[in-house]
Amino acid sequence: MAHVFSTSCSLKVVPGGERPYHAVKALSSRVSVQTLMVPRGSVIWSRTKQRSLSIRATTLTEVPTQSGSNSHQSSNDSTKRQRVMVIGGDGYCGWATALHLSKKGYDVSIVDSLIRRLFDHQLGLNSLTPIASIHDRVRRWKDVTGKDIGLYIGDICDFEFLAEAFKSFEPDAVVHFGEQRSAPYSMIDRSRAIFTQHNNVIGTLNVLFAIKEFREECHLVKLGTMGEYGTPNIDIEEGYITITHNGRTDTLPYPKQASSFYHLSKVHDSHNIAFTCKAWGIRATDLNQGVVYGVRTDETEMHEELRNRFDYDGVFGTALNRFCVQAAVGHPLTVYGKGGQTRGYLDIRDTVQCVELAIANPANPGEFRVFNQFTEQFSVNQLAALVTKAGAKLGIDVQTTTVPNPRVEAEEHYYNAKHTKLIDLGLRPHLLSDSLLDSLLNFAVQFEDRVDKKQIMPSVSWKKIGVKPKTVAA
Ligand SMILES: NC(=O)c1ccc[n+]([C@@H]2O[C@H](COP(=O)([O-])OP(=O)(O)OC[C@H]3O[C@@H](n4cnc5c(N)ncnc54)[C@H](O)[C@@H]3O)[C@@H](O)[C@H]2O)c1
Repeated sequence: MAHVFSTSCSLKVVPGGERPYHAVKALSSRVSVQTLMVPRGSVIWSRTKQRSLSIRATTLTEVPTQSGSNSHQSSNDSTKRQRVMVIGGDGYCGWATALHLSKKGYDVSIVDSLIRRLFDHQLGLNSLTPIASIHDRVRRWKDVTGKDIGLYIGDICDFEFLAEAFKSFEPDAVVHFGEQRSAPYSMIDRSRAIFTQHNNVIGTLNVLFAIKEFREECHLVKLGTMGEYGTPNIDIEEGYITITHNGRTDTLPYPKQASSFYHLSKVHDSHNIAFTCKAWGIRATDLNQGVVYGVRTDETEMHEELRNRFDYDGVFGTALNRFCVQAAVGHPLTVYGKGGQTRGYLDIRDTVQCVELAIANPANPGEFRVFNQFTEQFSVNQLAALVTKAGAKLGIDVQTTTVPNPRVEAEEHYYNAKHTKLIDLGLRPHLLSDSLLDSLLNFAVQFEDRVDKKQIMPSVSWKKIGVKPKTVAA
């Protein structure tokens, strides 16, 4: 598949050291080098059996570990710090979470193939916000807070790469955000459908095998989605439902009704994780997350180079974020079909809080725990009405347009999903208030010059997906 990286590299950034860009530049090249080691921001190159080249970058300077020390933390502090590997830490939820956990004193390393940035290049998309390279991001974080974030650049579908990252970092918890997460992307064409399922299912399987092989006690916190459940005509429970059938009663996994190849990959992940908890005693938490909105967290606000990405296009943009950008640039809000589609939503500040709560309260060995991670339910029509009202307060005349629904989904339906387990652990939700909507709209207005209006309308149809490779361009 042309749009998949064929090589991997891992690296730890040395603050103040030489910029290790050479490792990243080499991602797409095919170089035949046996073993070469250079000091400071150094890169180890080695030939692997499976792939033409695997690049592993490392450094002679240690990042803090549980038993080690570093100049910015007292040795006392560093002996207690939990090591958390954030897979997908360059992405929307992952970046905010990595910073939050680092700020809270966890020893964080990011694992990311940077493929999300490549998707933008492939499809001609861009984040509303300018975002710094991952190297500049972690360097800036170090400048601002004195805290190190380790960096392993590579594809978790490459088990050798992932194994190296596990052996080197020895995580106590793995937060796994590292998947292709767009339903429309998975419905563009056959190759994207297959890429999504391969990337997500094999990547997660590799994480499970890495835990089994190298870190049996490690707690897996996996990002699932509320979309796994679909829209059943009964209440949605948190992972399990107790059923009495023909006089017998059992508690069973809640039925899954995924509605895209992406959502199906998440369902398969959940099954694989549940199975390995049972078979190998892995401890795991599946966070069935709702739709995330917002962009600012305390940590990303600390410097413009720490700013998060903000997707507004028809492929990667999500409902409320998209509506705010549409309102900001005077584009009618794009309501798909009847607009009665109801889902769970949460503020990105609650995403980072929920993940921290899951890490701080780990599942038991062998336990497959499922939390529904959202704070409020809204229909698309309700969101459109809220954004229209917020726009009026700012003097923006917001219009709405009905767009033929590119998806196959119920447009009017019952929806009542439980979401108490994270609250029980201490989640204090940031509910969608007028002030948050105002600030989100103002944020969108601030960057309106960067909006490519041609990317706003949906460009992917669930029914028209074909085998022919498709370029989804404006
Ligand atoms: N954003 C939402 O509203 C939302 C809602 C529900 C669930 N989720 C889930 O949360 C997770 C993160 O979502 P996001 O919005 O931050 O996505 P994102 O696309 O912004 O980030 C995902 C990151 O994972 C990386 N990645 C993908 N495949 C990889 C691989 N094989 N190896 C290494 N890195 C890889 C990407 O480069 C990217 O940086 C996803 O699993 C998604 O399904 C997100």
